[in-house]
Amino acid sequence: MPSPRYTTEPLVAPSILSADFARLGEALSDLKKANADWVHVDVMDGHFVPNLTIGPPVIESLRQYSDLPFDVHLMIEHPELSIADYKAAGADIITVHWEASTHLDRILNRIKELGAMAGLSLNPATPIELLEDVLDVVDMVLIMSVNPGFGGQKFIPNTLHKIQRLKQMIGEREILIEVDGGVLPANAMAIREAGANILVAGSAVFNAKTSMADAITKLRQGSPAECVS
Ligand code: DX5
Ligand code: ZN
Repeated sequence: MPSPRYTTEPLVAPSILSADFARLGEALSDLKKANADWVHVDVMDGHFVPNLTIGPPVIESLRQYSDLPFDVHLMIEHPELSIADYKAAGADIITVHWEASTHLDRILNRIKELGAMAGLSLNPATPIELLEDVLDVVDMVLIMSVNPGFGGQKFIPNTLHKIQRLKQMIGEREILIEVDGGVLPANAMAIREAGANILVAGSAVFNAKTSMADAITKLRQGSPAECVS
């Protein structure tokens, strides 16, 4: 199974939050056929965000249905208590929220010690400048472009400015920039031009009018004719 690594190529990570939860195994097979790069797994605890999804046992069961990297987005309080369980279940990238973690330096290093890539996510209202002192530790920054908790929300346009500022702060460091929430073929190019290269998309892939493969291709290529809003 190939491990994810730093790349400047555009990658698409469909979020299975928008899949039929009774058929997640099939959804993973479909994503592979549709040429997805990663599988984005949204873990919600009903406290940090007002929604509840899946945890390590389900992720472990899903692992057999896909050899794509599992990009596990933990929208949970006290992530330090369960990161080892998520790694053991098959997570390749583990992302925790800045707003949910008191000892960020410790938890990010722990994720890396466990052998996963360490991601750090920010809610829309959290300034990107707060990451300054952990940039030497993270492998990926996940910028939320909606308030986390649900799929199908509208992209917050100020996110583009945040991505640009993050890109400048990162400089020459090899840190992936991922954007999550309201990502569509129509705004993919603007997001990429701002500096992000990992695009998470739930409803744009699973509710695509054409096909999942077509949606993923369009997200990867972007559509220069269209704009953000
Ligand atoms: C929201 C999740 C997202 C969500 C994206 O809290 O983190 O990953 O599934 O869904 P869309 O692409 O529909 O906004
Ligand atoms: Zn997510």
